[in-house]
Amino acid sequence: MPHTEPTCPDLPTPVMAIESSCDDTACAIVTTGGRILAETTLSQSGHVPFGGVVPEIAARAHLGALPALVRDTLRAAGMQPHELGAVAASCGPGLIGGLIVGADMGKGMAIALDRPFIAVNHIEAHALTARLPGVASNGAPFPYLLLLVSGGHCQCIAVEGVGHYRRLGGTIDDAAGEAFDKVAKMLGLGWPGGPAVERLAREGDPHAVPLPRPLMGRAGCDFSFSGLKTAVAQKLPTEVRAALPRQQAADIAASFQQAVSDIVIDRLGHALDMMDQRPTTLVVAGGVAANGVLRARLREFATAHGLPFAAPPLRLCTDNAVMVAWAAIETMRARVALGLSIPDDIAMRPRPRWPLSDMAQRMTADA
Ligand code: KG4
Ligand code: ZN
Repeated sequence: MPHTEPTCPDLPTPVMAIESSCDDTACAIVTTGGRILAETTLSQSGHVPFGGVVPEIAARAHLGALPALVRDTLRAAGMQPHELGAVAASCGPGLIGGLIVGADMGKGMAIALDRPFIAVNHIEAHALTARLPGVASNGAPFPYLLLLVSGGHCQCIAVEGVGHYRRLGGTIDDAAGEAFDKVAKMLGLGWPGGPAVERLAREGDPHAVPLPRPLMGRAGCDFSFSGLKTAVAQKLPTEVRAALPRQQAADIAASFQQAVSDIVIDRLGHALDMMDQRPTTLVVAGGVAANGVLRARLREFATAHGLPFAAPPLRLCTDNAVMVAWAAIETMRARVALGLSIPDDIAMRPRPRWPLSDMAQRMTADA
């Protein structure tokens, strides 16, 4: 789609952002009009032998990778540090070691360059990605319904404005991606497990293995995947796991994927009813949004409800720094529109937990 860059004369541009809340080290430079000047993401491989993210390994890997990544990103944009207008970093929620590494790097740069530092809520960044120019065909005007499904998160959120988010429901145990990863482990597939389960599922029958759909049909839009995961484990007595015939494993993978999709669609139906106003768009974000079967079901759901469907490209669905820069830009723009200052969060400590409900305060108080 053609790119038109709106001008924002009052905002410092471009914004360099850092993402280090989990196992991806990322840096990006984005103009206030939403033009991506450079983006780099490094997925850490040190967790593979452990079958999951190890916080201490993640923090050390961010520490090792970030300085060179920041320099490479500046070079890729053809820029000198003094040409940056502001610096942003994910400051929570997430793994505290990695958050400290990224936030301190960003703060150090902001101090040295005498530029504002903007602390970004990682979930807010996922939530606002759909508004990056070119992502949603309608620009995702507020309010919209966001389904965030990743390894760490599984939530339905009413995105009502910058800083204004209503969590309609979320998982009461495992996140969707976590369930994919655990089932992959049970089937002897690698980590991360989602893509491997999806690949194997292509050879299987999604109706072959009866599996429960926890919370399906219940009021609200909370999710639960732990019972589903246990049910899969019960289909796999330990002694046969290693020697499971491929067709049987594929049937289990396909049936599991079908159950997850059924649950998500049911919960979204409830989430839609819980919106105060009709949403303009259905938006999906997070690594699990890469799943082709789930994506097709979401698109069908949106069409059935007369809603445009927006799924950011995969590199912007999974953890990345472009979304962090864009959230900082949206925050600055919304604050300036309200007559408030550009935020400077140099004194803010990274927060392992940082509920979205805290973000509204940013739109009322002058920091
Ligand atoms: O958003 P993400 O990259 O990282 C965070 O968790 O924040 O999401 C990673 C998760 C992993 O659990 C991975 O197994 C899952 O997304 N995933 C998938 C697929 N690709 C990645 N799950 C199902 N199907 C896929 N194709
Ligand atoms: Zn994330």
